[in-house]
Amino acid sequence: MEDGSPVTTVLNYISIQAKHSYMYFTERHSTENAKEILKAAEMSVVSALPFLKPIHMRAPISPGRQRRHTLPASEFRSLNTEDAISVFEIEREAFISVSGECPLHLDEVRHFLTLCPELSLGWFEQGRLVAFIIGSLWDQDRLTNDALTLHKPHGTTVHIHVLAVHRTFRQQGKGSILLWRYLQYLRCLPYVRRAVLMCEDFLVPFYQKSGFKGQGPSEITVGPLTFIEMYYPVRGHAFMRRNSGC
Ligand SMILES: CC(C)(COP(=O)(O)OP(=O)(O)OC[C@H]1O[C@@H](n2cnc3c(N)ncnc32)[C@H](O)[C@@H]1OP(=O)(O)O)[C@@H](O)C(=O)NCCC(=O)NCCS
Repeated sequence: MEDGSPVTTVLNYISIQAKHSYMYFTERHSTENAKEILKAAEMSVVSALPFLKPIHMRAPISPGRQRRHTLPASEFRSLNTEDAISVFEIEREAFISVSGECPLHLDEVRHFLTLCPELSLGWFEQGRLVAFIIGSLWDQDRLTNDALTLHKPHGTTVHIHVLAVHRTFRQQGKGSILLWRYLQYLRCLPYVRRAVLMCEDFLVPFYQKSGFKGQGPSEITVGPLTFIEMYYPVRGHAFMRRNSGC
């Protein structure tokens, strides 16, 4: 083999070393003995071949395979502004197609994901957003119109602006699970005392199942839509906070 490749060079080197050993041994031992040693040296070269195989001799890998990453089946993480379009796609289907309105328009999604991304949570399946929550801080007992657009960094109340699940993933427990994880996470934030949200009448039982309590009608209306305000006492779970590994 004289193709000049690194593997050929290594094999030639080993072969030359083996022949030198053969000559050395034939000077001192019987020819038979030396032949056995040469054979053993050649066999060790052959057995070393798979490990010496250089990269350019391996079976070619298609560019697609080379770059493939395995996306996690399920991932929970805070959202960032790059997720804004996916968030808004879910909102568009969940709200705008139903009532013509939605809790957060695209610029507001970007606004909150810039100011307080740590108060958002996304659920991704194979890298695709399937459910999300966006929150910000608020500093009053009840929600007012200002709460729809402002983030009050010194507030101790998390205002949950929106929880939505992609249409094809609804009624599978995902909304409840995501909300539960979010509330667990809030317990680990020492400055958070409670979470509040407003929802339409028909969703009150859904939030009650997650531990929210009604506070009566909200002063906020959107067109013909009216809402019930609900709260969740994050701080009231001090015992759980101590025992939740925060
Ligand atoms: C509301 C929403 C977040 C619930 O998420 P989900 O993953 O579908 O809900 P889960 O599977 O965890 O829980 C199902 C329960 O939610 C409640 N629920 C969900 N959608 C409901 C609806 N349209 N009307 C009444 N109850 C509803 C029911 O109590 C249901 O329990 P049931 O199946 O025993 O009746 C989801 O349906 C959604 O994104 N809807 C559109 C957006 C929206 O309305 N968001 C809330 C804004 S406040």
